[in-house]
Amino acid sequence: MSAIRIAPSLLAADFARLGEEVRAIEAAGADWLHLDIMDGHFVPNISFGPGLIKALRKHSAMPFDVHLMIAPADPYLAAFAEAGADVISLHPEAGPHLHRSLQTIRALGKKAGVVLNPATPVECLAHVLDLTDLILVMSVNPGFGGQSFLAGQLPKIAALRRMITESGRDIALQVDGGVTLQTAPQCIAAGADVLVAGTAVFGAADYAQAIAGLRGGA
Ligand code: DX5
Ligand code: ZN
Repeated sequence: MSAIRIAPSLLAADFARLGEEVRAIEAAGADWLHLDIMDGHFVPNISFGPGLIKALRKHSAMPFDVHLMIAPADPYLAAFAEAGADVISLHPEAGPHLHRSLQTIRALGKKAGVVLNPATPVECLAHVLDLTDLILVMSVNPGFGGQSFLAGQLPKIAALRRMITESGRDIALQVDGGVTLQTAPQCIAAGADVLVAGTAVFGAADYAQAIAGLRGGA
């Protein structure tokens, strides 16, 4: 398995100083920037769209990891690709044709991710692994930062790690929601290699210490 990567979620940043916040986490050792896109329909909250991603793109060299919580997602994939996304992940429930959506993301030259809600079974991935670069396990119900980690998702992470290993494919395994200094080691032990953290990074006084701690290096 590759080294642990930390992807701070912008949702927990100071929205009045976003450029500055992105530069600060990059300097503090963040690997990816996680961007949560919420439409007030697929999830009960509204965040931001491709315009903000485009504006932030020139402030950072980090891979932009875009988590779409919108339905439908297909009409917006090109806009997020053009805005500067590197990874675009969507939920199978966001449209009728997951396979086609992943093909579209790949055709746009981006890495394609599938996000599993807490109630979504791993089996939905069985026939799309060849189109999948990243699997994201939601360890909270999507829509809000600052929720408590659902430990019942740990066996799902372990099952996905086995599925990825058996496939022999290069697929990142990401966890999102309630990842803290306490829960990160459990995610890593279960087989995750990319940790999303909003509150645990942007709520910390020292971003570098928080990122190193999540990675297991402090
Ligand atoms: C929830 C989002 C998460 C969220 C994580 O819908 O997908 O990325 O921002 O926030 P924390 O780390 O505070 O749980
Ligand atoms: Zn997210």
